[in-house]
Amino acid sequence: MRWTRAAGRGLLVLVVVVAGHVGAGARAGEGSAGGRGPLTFATAGDLTGYLGPLLEGWNRAHPGEKVTLVELPDSADETHAQMATDLRGGRRSRFDVLNIDVNWTPEFAAAGWIRPLPRDRFPLKTFLRPVQDTATYDGELYAVPYVTNAGLLLYRKDVLAAEGVPPPRTWAELEQDAKTIAPRHGLDGYAGQFLPYEGLTVNAAEAVYSAGGTILGDEGARVTVDSAAAREGIGFLARGVREGWIPEQALTYKEEESKQAFQDGRLLFLRNWPYAYVVASAAGSPVAGKVGAVPLPGPDGPGAGVLGGSNLAVSTHARHPDSAARLIAYLTSEPVQRQVLTRGALPPVRAALYEDPELVRRFPYLPTLRESVLAARSRPKSPRYDQVSLVVQAVVHDAMTGHMTPAAAVRRLARELAAISDR
Ligand code: GLC
Repeated sequence: MRWTRAAGRGLLVLVVVVAGHVGAGARAGEGSAGGRGPLTFATAGDLTGYLGPLLEGWNRAHPGEKVTLVELPDSADETHAQMATDLRGGRRSRFDVLNIDVNWTPEFAAAGWIRPLPRDRFPLKTFLRPVQDTATYDGELYAVPYVTNAGLLLYRKDVLAAEGVPPPRTWAELEQDAKTIAPRHGLDGYAGQFLPYEGLTVNAAEAVYSAGGTILGDEGARVTVDSAAAREGIGFLARGVREGWIPEQALTYKEEESKQAFQDGRLLFLRNWPYAYVVASAAGSPVAGKVGAVPLPGPDGPGAGVLGGSNLAVSTHARHPDSAARLIAYLTSEPVQRQVLTRGALPPVRAALYEDPELVRRFPYLPTLRESVLAARSRPKSPRYDQVSLVVQAVVHDAMTGHMTPAAAVRRLARELAAISDR
């Protein structure tokens, strides 16, 4: 297997140990001429273990501006918490360049944690259109898109072919197959990321959007969740657990655990990001050659995936802001964006790569992925996004565990989200 967690972890231990030394040295050199010098790069868990080697490339070419990788946990919420704690420390902050979730740009900018960036330094026009919108706040550029993402439905090609059915396009088809076909093959039906954390907010937003609903409007100023469509979306997830075609274990899954269940051959259907498709299909995976991917289904036809991915931002207290901007330009350059795909199994932000004949030959899913990213919908936008997400996760999890009906869940969501916008 090319992408193993173990390899990535080994690397992590190494770089973090080194970080202690480099960090201390770099702080001593604070304010060096021209804003150039060593940097730290803080990121959520690197699920495909590609970042260390990629940053090595920068370090070899820029010995005076070495970057140290600080890898935070897999869970977006824990990464958010650690970054927020660090950035609240102001001048004591250890993180210089931050790889932040697409949805955090408004919050980090409004809090004064990240600094505005000069637009002319970055090739924004070469990026896929939806990702460009995630990088600005209040008319200013606060981050540079780095990786994009869109939810997909992975399915077991071999099992559906043996049953003579096509991959599902509607929730009714997915439910039917998950209920009847999966058990005949000793499989569980369907899973996504249902632990209460950012991944559940994503899965819930996809279900609500697929049914035609919304959560917030007007940049977070209006609560729009109280609708029949939102009840239908949350109802779909809750019914799955109640009827058993979503296994109870899935209520504890983040991206990796759900991918593992699928890769071990325990699941018929999985909602996940494209990296899971690449890793589960790679040589050595027990389900290699048996994995298909289609757009997420919805009530009457294909539903709506949520736009994921991350942006690069510079801490307000970055020790060497010029080097930070240079590192971001490097990470978003064409050759490095190519490696994001080829080594990281992550969807790049550069639009041209999706039409590059050599890459399309190697990664035949690229045109489909491009369509999914272009069609993906944003999560609610709000400078208090962290609070919005916490409410969505908690309430939807209660609905999925049967502690609350979907109708009660939607009413509570409307009440609690309104309280956040009033604060
Ligand atoms: C992926 C996405 C990110 C999302 C997270 C949820 O990392 O790229 O946008 O918030 O998953 O777990």
